[in-house]
Amino acid sequence: MTRLFTLALAALALCAGFGCRGQTSTAAPIVPIRNMHDQDRYDPQGESGFFDDGRSMRMPIEGTVPRERQLDPELGAGRLPDDSGYVLEVPKAAIDTAGGMSALLDRGQDRYDIYCRPCHDGSGAGQGTVITRAGWQPAPPTFHDDRLRQMPDGQLYATITNGVRIMPGYGDRVPVQDRWAIVAYVRALQLSQGE
Ligand code: HEC
Repeated sequence: MTRLFTLALAALALCAGFGCRGQTSTAAPIVPIRNMHDQDRYDPQGESGFFDDGRSMRMPIEGTVPRERQLDPELGAGRLPDDSGYVLEVPKAAIDTAGGMSALLDRGQDRYDIYCRPCHDGSGAGQGTVITRAGWQPAPPTFHDDRLRQMPDGQLYATITNGVRIMPGYGDRVPVQDRWAIVAYVRALQLSQGE
């Protein structure tokens, strides 16, 4: 009996010391090892007396590029290497990475259904749920008019990347490879309705 009592007392003491689950405490936390709690630090964009330029943050080393940035203009931007215009066809590198055109199209269909179908609908006529139910105006154009049929693949890619007028861009959400997959799939949709 005494043992049980001691145990209960010990549990109580622990609770008092460290707080118990399910309770909020306003007391400062008890941290047995303080190591990283008390170290000096700089705030982002703050000042520093240590560096000559007085900034706490360092400039990136010259030539640094973001990890996401594609250096190949054809693949990354859908532009010709001399930037004179858009590439006319999906770059071979995108097809190869997917493991062939058929795999690229499968992926494209999958991504199109997620990212484009809500507005552009399954056939590309521009009458998706967002348009018909939420009444978004102006509605997207159909993919089956001549202007969009003749648009270079690179421009279609750039439209997905950057958006156009009231359509949002998907460059920050849909990776390069998937954007090309969607381009290929939109082309397939256009062919499927071709005269
Ligand atoms: C939130 C609704 C919405 C989504 C999602 C959407 N679009 Fe659009 N899209 C639009 C609207 C609206 C327009 C017409 C924009 C305008 O002309 O102001 C448009 C226009 C376009 C055009 C024609 C561009 C031009 O030059 O006229 C293309 C191509 C296109 N979208 C492709 C896509 C693809 C591919 C996706 C999926 C990655 C996508 N859109 C996702 C709403 C959407």
